[in-house]
Amino acid sequence: MKHLIDPTDLSVEEIDEILNLALDIIDNHDKYKDACRGKKLATLFFEPSTRTRLSFEAAMMELGGNVLGFSSAESSSATKGESVGDTIRVVGCYADIIAMRHPKEGAPMLGSMVSPVPIINAGDGGHNHPTQTLTDLLTIKREKGELKNFTIGLCGDLKFGRTVHSLIKALSRYEGIKFVLISPKELKVPDYIITEVFEKNNIDYREVTTMEEVMSELDIIYMTRVQKERFFNEADYVRLKDTYILDKSKLKNAKDTLTIMHPLPRVNEISTELDDDPRAAYFRQAMNGKYVRMALMLTLLGVNV
Ligand code: NCD
Repeated sequence: MKHLIDPTDLSVEEIDEILNLALDIIDNHDKYKDACRGKKLATLFFEPSTRTRLSFEAAMMELGGNVLGFSSAESSSATKGESVGDTIRVVGCYADIIAMRHPKEGAPMLGSMVSPVPIINAGDGGHNHPTQTLTDLLTIKREKGELKNFTIGLCGDLKFGRTVHSLIKALSRYEGIKFVLISPKELKVPDYIITEVFEKNNIDYREVTTMEEVMSELDIIYMTRVQKERFFNEADYVRLKDTYILDKSKLKNAKDTLTIMHPLPRVNEISTELDDDPRAAYFRQAMNGKYVRMALMLTLLGVNV
């Protein structure tokens, strides 16, 4: 049985198969409408979510299956003191697959050690978010045509942003990718990403503090929200939250072929004046999240259509 806890739990070949399956689902939606008939997805969200939880649920419904679960720790037995392990053992008796989000790094991994059914990490603290990464990879594949030879700027909260950590790990395995890390010094990527991913694999990366100085080089800009809930004090958050605001003026020197991505939710990082710019891919990205989660669940459940 396979779980998805870290993006590298899937090989590049397996990711390729999932993305191709997602593309087939997009083209032949009806073919999949009964693929998970009789199956149940449990969404255990100990932390807030809109896109991730609802796209998982929509994905299972579009495969003909059912969903159950909770959307906050307060409405679960966690408030009574139940451990993650016990919750997972129990929910594993009711569901065929579990998507779990938790504020503690490593909680889904812990769950996977006792789970009788596949566990999908839907975000663990500031650590990983592998299904957002699959969403991002499908988006890059659809927007750019291929997953190699581009320069990506990752901008904003690179310290606490789990989507960034997972995307870097996954993209580091593809050819010809240059990373430009754009953040204030307080929100730089964690050291382990620098040593274990970039340096260990000899990957081309650069750290800068403004988007203007690199904009003309970028093929993709991946904006992120400053992760308010992971800050230790409010004053630091307030000081850093609006460091980067992408708007028309910042795109003056950008390529016409730039792709603008954001895992969402957006706060102020991208001006709404860009929403109708053809380069703005973030709402298409959110849509891709549903298709890639359909493909992922079919794969982990071993359902062939
Ligand atoms: C992200 C997350 O939860 O990490 N949201 C998402 O799942 N699309 C990004 C964020 O909350 O900033």
